[in-house]
Amino acid sequence: MKARVFSGVQPSGDLHIGNYLGALKNWVRIQYDYESIFCIVDLHAITIYQEPAALRAKIEEIAAIFLAAGIDPKHSAIMVQSSVPAHAELAWMLTCVTPVGWLERMTQYKMKAESQETVGDGLLQYPVLMAADILLYQAAIVPVGEDQRQHLELTRDLAQRFNSLYGDTFVMPETHLPTVGARVMGLDDPEKKMSKSASGSGHAVALLDPPVQARKKIMRATTDSLPAVDFDNLGAGVANLLGIFQALSEWPENRMKKHFAGMRYGELKKQVAEMVISHLEPFQKRYHEITSEAGYVASILREGAERVAPIADATVELVKKRMGLYTLS
Ligand code: TYM
Repeated sequence: MKARVFSGVQPSGDLHIGNYLGALKNWVRIQYDYESIFCIVDLHAITIYQEPAALRAKIEEIAAIFLAAGIDPKHSAIMVQSSVPAHAELAWMLTCVTPVGWLERMTQYKMKAESQETVGDGLLQYPVLMAADILLYQAAIVPVGEDQRQHLELTRDLAQRFNSLYGDTFVMPETHLPTVGARVMGLDDPEKKMSKSASGSGHAVALLDPPVQARKKIMRATTDSLPAVDFDNLGAGVANLLGIFQALSEWPENRMKKHFAGMRYGELKKQVAEMVISHLEPFQKRYHEITSEAGYVASILREGAERVAPIADATVELVKKRMGLYTLS
């Protein structure tokens, strides 16, 4: 049996090139080496208020983005978290073995909590639900961007804690980061991670941005006071643009250096924009084909949930037995 891969995206904003380079691109590349499950984590999204109609629409949009990016539904399951109730069930069981202190230490929790007037309990429990997503499928590999590394460490700690309390139950998942593009920074502020929720029209290139708009955002990206690329003295903004180019082109380091050393920033931005657009255009064409077929995305999501539910249910049954909860079979 092939080892399993699991990863997910929150349907909480417009997917951007950071999500693509940090996660999706890697998923597409490795999907056939594993039994692959890719999830739209709607239960995670509601840890912060989402307008219901927008959330509902966003879920199918993201499924179509997975497909357009190259996830093959014949091989990989594409599913929505809330369609498989076992995610929430296992999350509760794991909650009961999670020290609150572990959760209060999470940097994403601290950052998100800061911007909320009232902090919902779900925000604190967020990483436990994420651990449940992964452990439910006994996933060996979790391909994510750099910002999820701490959550993955917590997942491993929880698996270890559960295994030592109740006996060997969970596979230890490994974090799988891309070598380039694991942390794409905001175009307007290269000190901040490119984020779905950040406001500001120049912050992120969304995967569904019209090419004209994508070009504009890149041409306006923040650089520094130097005139041209100096690899011995790379500012964060220039390094970010080079990283985006390299992740998309897959050029090796030495070719990057040879090509870009001494290039003026205006020209650099032009070339980055062209590289981004050459990926966006065919992607968006596929996206529009996929979404023009009524009912297609919904059928993929139904099939995905049906395919993975037996795996999830078997884990919940096993965990119940381990913990001494009552089972009917
Ligand atoms: P989310 O929805 O914030 O992001 C989805 C994926 O995109 C990556 N990513 C980035 N990579 C590079 N540069 C960036 N600026 C950037 N921004 C985001 C993220 O690392 C992620 O891989 N908690 C997760 C969703 C989740 C999950 C899971 C992931 C829930 N359960 C189980 C893996 C396994 C999240 O909010 O991702």
